[in-house]
Amino acid sequence: MAGATRPKAYLCRRYTESVEAALRARYELQVNEDDTILSPEEIVRAASGSQVLLTSATEQINADVLRGLSPALRFVATLSVGYDHIDMGVVRELGIGVLHTPDVLSDACAEIAMMLMLNACRRGYEADRMVRSGSWTGWSPTQLLGVGLKGKRVVIFGMGRIGREIAARARAFGMEVHYHNRRPLSQEQAANAIYHADLDEALQVADVLVIAVPGSPQLKRVINAARIALLPADAVLVNISRGELVDDNALINALSTGRLFAAGLDVFANEPNVDPRYRELDNVFLSPHIGSATKEARDAMGWLLVDGLDALFQGTTPANLLDHTDSIRSQETIR
Ligand code: DGY
Repeated sequence: MAGATRPKAYLCRRYTESVEAALRARYELQVNEDDTILSPEEIVRAASGSQVLLTSATEQINADVLRGLSPALRFVATLSVGYDHIDMGVVRELGIGVLHTPDVLSDACAEIAMMLMLNACRRGYEADRMVRSGSWTGWSPTQLLGVGLKGKRVVIFGMGRIGREIAARARAFGMEVHYHNRRPLSQEQAANAIYHADLDEALQVADVLVIAVPGSPQLKRVINAARIALLPADAVLVNISRGELVDDNALINALSTGRLFAAGLDVFANEPNVDPRYRELDNVFLSPHIGSATKEARDAMGWLLVDGLDALFQGTTPANLLDHTDSIRSQETIR
């Protein structure tokens, strides 16, 4: 793809250096240099005539964007495993190929799930603040008592690739692993994790609930007041999926009344505009959507897109090309 015939591509966000260099070598690349989050209208204006749109989960690749860039647009490549920000119905209608970045971020996301779990259970925010603020008067037998992980039941809602990595780490902490998916995993994949066909039944045993299911409009506010009420007293909720899956009013109410012990949240509805009530709560540990934010994962995610696009331009089908069945499958297990 060298020389004057290079396809035109538009990069909505800044990727890692080596990935951007690879893209510049292959495409007539235009870049959103200041790395702001572009609106659909801005994307259509900036990427006009592009055959490839390189994006991330921060951009809404809706019907207006896809139709606005059609018929030139052939491929959308998103630096994310999730693709709930892309209108897959219109993608199919227009025959556009969509690449995403599964697998290579599973370890990084599982690590963040454990970070949130530990900080929520062991009161990480309050502990850090006590030291930084100078208000620590010294060790005390009853200071900042949290809940231990050993022997507790973790319920993983969405036991896909990331969920299974979380399960492996939770086992190492001595937790009993339960999960809810539409369908049970094979024995080998489940590795003794206990399956619950019914989400409500699973919630009733969740000392710690980890939401790792793929985001989708059908699951909006699936964790609502009624479901939070099913969790055991003093349960902990962790969300690394999408903020929209949780009803913020219900969660904030449960945290402020002490119905839940704590929460660890990496994702929020309407990012980056976090519901300000979370900031006021001591029993929430917050992080800014950094699940896959390691150098290793972000590089690997970018290279998966570079290699996938190479394959598509050569007429072959890369494993990370989404198709019709993927959007059905995503409702079941994967993330
Ligand atoms: C993903 O990969 O879907 C993460 O949430 C980052 O967007």
